[in-house]
Amino acid sequence: MCTTREQLGQDPFKAIKPFPLEKTTDFLKTSLKAAVSIIVIFSISLVIYSVFNPNTRPAFFHWSELQNPALYISQLNSDNSTTNISHIAFGIGGSTRTWANRVQYSDLWWKPDVTRGFVFLEKKPHPKTRFKIQHRVSSDWTRFKRTAGSDSAVRIARVVVDLFRVGLPNVRWFVMGDDDTVFFSDNLVTVLSKYDHRRMVYVGGNSESVEQDVMHAYDMAFGGGGFAISYPLAAELVRVMDGCLNRYHYFYGSDQRVWACVGELGVALSRESGFHQIDVRGDLFGLLTAHPMAPLVSLHHLDSVKPLFPNQSQLESLTTLMKAYEIDPSRTLQQCFCYNHKHKWSVSISWGYAVQIYPVSLTAKELEMPLLTFQTWRSRSNGPFTFNTRPVDPDPCRQPIIFYFNSVEEDVGGETITTYKKFEVKPVIKSCNREYARALAIENIVVSASKMDPQEWKEVPRRHCCEINRSLTHQTMRIKIRKCKHSETITI
Ligand SMILES: *[C@@H]1O[C@H](CO)[C@@H](O)[C@H](O)[C@H]1NC(C)=O
Ligand SMILES: *[C@@H]1O[C@H](CO)[C@@H](O)[C@H](O)[C@H]1NC(C)=O
Ligand SMILES: *[C@@H]1O[C@H](CO)[C@@H](O)[C@H](O)[C@H]1NC(C)=O
Ligand SMILES: *[C@@H]1O[C@H](CO)[C@@H](O)[C@H](O)[C@H]1NC(C)=O
Repeated sequence: MCTTREQLGQDPFKAIKPFPLEKTTDFLKTSLKAAVSIIVIFSISLVIYSVFNPNTRPAFFHWSELQNPALYISQLNSDNSTTNISHIAFGIGGSTRTWANRVQYSDLWWKPDVTRGFVFLEKKPHPKTRFKIQHRVSSDWTRFKRTAGSDSAVRIARVVVDLFRVGLPNVRWFVMGDDDTVFFSDNLVTVLSKYDHRRMVYVGGNSESVEQDVMHAYDMAFGGGGFAISYPLAAELVRVMDGCLNRYHYFYGSDQRVWACVGELGVALSRESGFHQIDVRGDLFGLLTAHPMAPLVSLHHLDSVKPLFPNQSQLESLTTLMKAYEIDPSRTLQQCFCYNHKHKWSVSISWGYAVQIYPVSLTAKELEMPLLTFQTWRSRSNGPFTFNTRPVDPDPCRQPIIFYFNSVEEDVGGETITTYKKFEVKPVIKSCNREYARALAIENIVVSASKMDPQEWKEVPRRHCCEINRSLTHQTMRIKIRKCKHSETITI
């Protein structure tokens, strides 16, 4: 075009004269070529610029080349060692909107150099957000069809695929959770090591609120409680998930999408009752003092319930619970109960959390049924739940006196001593009967137990028994937890 202008400059009149036809097409061809070259050069420079400039680089996470899954599975088959924490890869579904507040939960349980995995976010987190777990930006999730649920439902459903494609070595299990899930990873290992990771396995739990199970699915692993996918199943999900996501575009959550894709492979949920979605509101006391006979694997939705311990923030409460958990993971929250027949007291222990003294006789079936201190998730009603509950007695003289976990020690012989301290009582119950007054005089409870062998969880579980020391000294009650004898019953 410069040349044309120069030519024009040489003879201004020529420009006015019409060009002969062939000259015109030549001119057009040249201009077109020039234009195309300029566009091509411009686009190439733009691409080069954006690749090398970190600010404009596409933020999506890019997959690396992986080892052939079939080859890896054959290696898995020849390794007979028991599963430990190093065999788990965690994939936490997060978002930069909530991450700054929820990072406190993953920081509680994440152990750098021990736990492996990443939190997957939709973009880079704010540089001032500090956290222990490493992050990745999810691979492109916007290309999938979605007619229900949020944008992040598709993205977080694909965490298992993104995590697999990171290519971490020696992974047997991929464990997914939300950014507000607290995992008790030793117990997670205990639970997962029961299963054969060389098969396609899908482990988790559903919602406590029936309304949620009806709305989503009973036989699905709810994502907040966390779920585990064995390596061979994850390898298949990587293959089928993209197509599957488009087929289930009308589902609500990310966990439901994963469940659908797992279902297409014909794999059913292996339900474990230690995964807690916590689709409830209110006070978890009733749930945590009557934990099912299974290791505590996870807790979720802790922002939506009262702090676990009175007079503590939720974070302080979890730190308190973790103290007991660190000493004896398998026994954490395990319930056992015994009676003081002389005073007709029923005593129920939730190890590492609380002891209750009921100054009335309650049967074993009553004691192991959660007290209704919480409501359903959506409608905030008194049920139904996926387990039975018993109402809190309106008569304060029939309500338990509560002692909350205070300290834990371990002696050289592997015995643990946990102490529980009475929390303030309502003034009204000071005028209950004589037996109640006697129980009220107790200030502390000291519980001794041997550390529970995780191996016990591989067998059919049996609740442990306890014995109350008859002598009350210094307003302290002493209780010993031990395995029940063969034909021992716990009878009022
Ligand atoms: C692993 O276990 C299988 C079956 O129990 C056995 O056939 C195999 O020899 C074992 N491999 C090793 C390396 O111990
Ligand atoms: C876990 O097991 C592997 C063998 O599969 C072993 O090499 C590793 O040291 C173990 N790690 C831990 C933390 O126990
Ligand atoms: C609650 O905490 C405050 C400050 O930590 C303490 O002074 C108070 O005694 C506590 N109350 C109970 C009932 O433990
Ligand atoms: C009961 O407690 C007392 C005082 O601590 C102790 O001397 C006694 O051995 C305990 N009894 C049993 C059966 O454990």
